[in-house]
Amino acid sequence: MDPARGRGVIPIGWSGRIVAGDYEMTVGEKSANVAPLVELRGVSKGYREGERRHDVLVDVDAEVLAGEIVVLLGRSGSGKSTLLNLVCGIDLPDEGDVVVDGVTINRVIERDRTLFRRDHIGFIFQFFNLVPTLTVLENLMLPLELARRTEAEDTDKALGLLDDVGLADRISSYPDRLSGGEQQRVAVARALVHEPRLVLADEPTGNLDLETGRSVLGLLDNMVRSTGTTMIMVTHSREVAGLADRLVMLREGQLVEIGHGELS
Ligand SMILES: Nc1ncnc2c1ncn2[C@@H]1O[C@H](COP(=O)(O)OP(=O)(O)O)[C@@H](O)[C@H]1O
Ligand SMILES: [Mg+2]
Repeated sequence: MDPARGRGVIPIGWSGRIVAGDYEMTVGEKSANVAPLVELRGVSKGYREGERRHDVLVDVDAEVLAGEIVVLLGRSGSGKSTLLNLVCGIDLPDEGDVVVDGVTINRVIERDRTLFRRDHIGFIFQFFNLVPTLTVLENLMLPLELARRTEAEDTDKALGLLDDVGLADRISSYPDRLSGGEQQRVAVARALVHEPRLVLADEPTGNLDLETGRSVLGLLDNMVRSTGTTMIMVTHSREVAGLADRLVMLREGQLVEIGHGELS
């Protein structure tokens, strides 16, 4: 498989020879294998409701290749957020393995899962989740501090990203002074500032009006693609699905791959 298939870019970091498990890849070779960045192997997850067990994910197998943008669709309550929580190791599967960037994250201790998340994953949430007591710039510096990377050049990087999202003149503002769209732009920059391998976005336009949502999505798509970052984006908006390399639908505990044409 060609790592650049459908993307037009070679993901950053994929230079030279890459070996991960059974997969090998040399960037530039036409028929090289691409290592999946995310793998779910026989993953089941359920919650207990009194005496009953409510199965959310049932024996799910899935792969997301490095550099892919996968959109995850499904009704409210179908388990989309649960799946993201498993991918980032906030939650653990009842059965099966979750492998991210070669690390079986359900088999490492909580502390290491936390560190892994800080170093390798960026998040975007429906309700922005900016820290209200920190300025825009401070919010952006936080992932770098958590990932123990606060070099002088990181401030420049944060400032550059705020410029990219059109908020260079708001660096000293507090989040409650910004509109929803502006807050989500900050969240987009925050998700990318520590150069994660993987971005997880959970209904990023769910709290924005249509126009604002479109513009934030365009920005997110652009920035994720130009850096070759892998992204799993959850939505129940079919419009959002348009930018996906691949669409998967969560239905009755199962992941089903669907074509763009099947969206009505
Ligand atoms: N911590 C939890 N305890 C009990 N049930 C939960 C918990 N988290 C999620 N659920 C249930 O799992 C199902 C899937 O939830 P969720 O993943 O949030 O769905 P979605 O994000 O697709 O709307 C829902 O029925 C929800 O009530
Ligand atoms: Mg959800």
